[in-house]
Amino acid sequence: MASNSSTTWAAPMPFLGEILKGQPALVTGASSGIGRAVALGLARAGADVAVNYSAHADAADAVVREIEGLGRRALALKGDVSREADVEAMFASAISHFGTLHIVVSNAGVQRDAAFDAMTLAQWDEVITINLTGQFLCARAAVREFKRRGVDAAVSRAAGKIICMSSVHQHIPWAGHVNYAASKGGLMLLMQSLAQEVAPHFIRVNSIAPGAIRTPINTSTWQTPAAYADLMTFIPYKRIGEPDDIAQAAVWLASDAADYVTGTSLVVDGGMSLYPQFADGG
Ligand code: NAI
Ligand code: BGC
Repeated sequence: MASNSSTTWAAPMPFLGEILKGQPALVTGASSGIGRAVALGLARAGADVAVNYSAHADAADAVVREIEGLGRRALALKGDVSREADVEAMFASAISHFGTLHIVVSNAGVQRDAAFDAMTLAQWDEVITINLTGQFLCARAAVREFKRRGVDAAVSRAAGKIICMSSVHQHIPWAGHVNYAASKGGLMLLMQSLAQEVAPHFIRVNSIAPGAIRTPINTSTWQTPAAYADLMTFIPYKRIGEPDDIAQAAVWLASDAADYVTGTSLVVDGGMSLYPQFADGG
């Protein structure tokens, strides 16, 4: 079936089972897009979920209600991931509510695009502090809780799992988006170095590197038929990704099915990283 800009890929994803039962999770930026889908995916897989948001309380509350409708516990937590005090308070609330955390998906991220010579320091700083410093603050809070508790063998082989939402732009350069690509490239080595450091504590740290996924962050690339057709020239699999494609990857990475996986970027991009322009020669 050929895809177009309005094709929705709502056919149910395969259900992986309740493989995260008893493992409370926190997802940042979970009131929209990929974060919302990941929060719901983790809940479908059995996890109770803390839904972080920075701006839209109503949208976060709606996600909480959906999770509760699946029979899990959930709470909405307001907090800016780039602010140390907010992150500390958010983790304290989630841990006090659920008793502990086993899974942290650091998903919050922004784009503030500009040609390099027009990019303001404010645009640079906003992207780096949310996309990179925010990852540091959330991962640090997660590691402290995972080390405090250690492995609970009744629940998981690992003491905890951190999943960083990166991007194909951790390895694909992106003109006009230098701040964003720098944040995701930095995140790749943050994730790998941290994975190396905490592996002896049975803490797994991985990234998901999505390609183009249909969310509010990139509306201009899929909203019109012309933009969608142009996007398809970058995607060998010939469809845009849906947030549930990323949720499925997150559920697997968070589960013991991925117990020997740490320090890895799971690329979920329909082949965008495969130099598609070489498909017809080179
Ligand atoms: P989105 O704009 O729907 O989600 C970003 C979320 O982060 C929003 O809910 C926003 O409120 C939240 N957020 C922004 N600043 C925050 C802060 N300071 N503290 C807490 N939350 C904050 O867009 P999308 O696509 O769902 O983005 C999620 C992540 O996925 C981002 O890290 C993005 O870089 C990444 N990504 C997205 C791709 C796509 O094609 N949609 C592809 C590759 C990566
Ligand atoms: C960006 C999206 C873009 C995708 C593929 C993501 O990291 O946030 O805007 O569509 O990469 O280029």
